[in-house]
Amino acid sequence: MENTQTETTYQNILVEAKDQILYITINREDKMNALNILTLAEIKSAVLAVYQDSSIRGIILTGKGTRAFAAGADIAEFANFTVEEGTRLSDEGHAVLRAIDNCPKPVIAAINGFSLGGGNELAMSAHIRVCSEKAKFGQPEVNLGVIPGYAGTQRLAQLIGKGRALEYLLTGDMIDAQKALQMGLVNHVVPAEELIAKCEEILNKIKTKAPLAIASVIRCVNTFYEKKADGNLTEINEFGNFFGSEDFIEGTQAFLQKRPANFKGN
Ligand code: COA
Repeated sequence: MENTQTETTYQNILVEAKDQILYITINREDKMNALNILTLAEIKSAVLAVYQDSSIRGIILTGKGTRAFAAGADIAEFANFTVEEGTRLSDEGHAVLRAIDNCPKPVIAAINGFSLGGGNELAMSAHIRVCSEKAKFGQPEVNLGVIPGYAGTQRLAQLIGKGRALEYLLTGDMIDAQKALQMGLVNHVVPAEELIAKCEEILNKIKTKAPLAIASVIRCVNTFYEKKADGNLTEINEFGNFFGSEDFIEGTQAFLQKRPANFKGN
């Protein structure tokens, strides 16, 4: 099938195909590449198209600019969501990230800066992560009075282990690139100017292997983690419930008003 990716018009992502690699760039630099609903839908659409596209052998997913890969879900967009809207957001976010995780062609996240909240969950759904030396990672949702909603409670524990995942999920602390490498959150740390080249080097090697074997390896490894389906459902329901809590309103408003949050436990 011919590649039609670059003919599709997207608003919030840039999509370019070159040498059998599809480059997807989140293009909301002024908002730290925050993932609003449209951006997630566009990423899903671009990734799903690759499933059937024999001209593409792998994906590099990155963020525009030098500051952020993606600084999370769009806080301004979801700050006033109802419980139902929050649950739907989480459900759809899980579906987008599953589309990446289950992609039969390797997806590499090229993490060029902040990888926070939903942005880090997006990065964790990729098969391989490469970051620049100045990348910073974290799940700061507890600062907003909410929890990760795009499988962060599941994938962070899978990648770095339960004890370390719980520490970062509970404190919201940021993780620098070297620490991320040491814990297995990323596969490689490289200077910023070598980030894309490193991802291309990995994909060019994988491109020489049998595509059916590559797809099968991804499927087999993923099957191991599918046993954790209940954890995902718990997260979707609990995330949605936060949209009915006073602390969530306080946390998101505090962020938007650039002041510290004052949580009451409601
Ligand atoms: N959602 C919506 N907007 C966001 C955002 C997000 N997750 N992250 C950053 N932005 C916006 C800011 O509101 C700001 O917009 P403005 O210029 O209209 O005021 C712009 O991006 C630049 O961010 P700013 O906070 O001014 O930059 P900074 O250098 O001071 O801080 C971060 C960078 C990434 C540390 C900070 O933006 C941050 O903490 N972001 C939120 C991270 C988060 O909690 N993510 C989890 C969401 S579930």
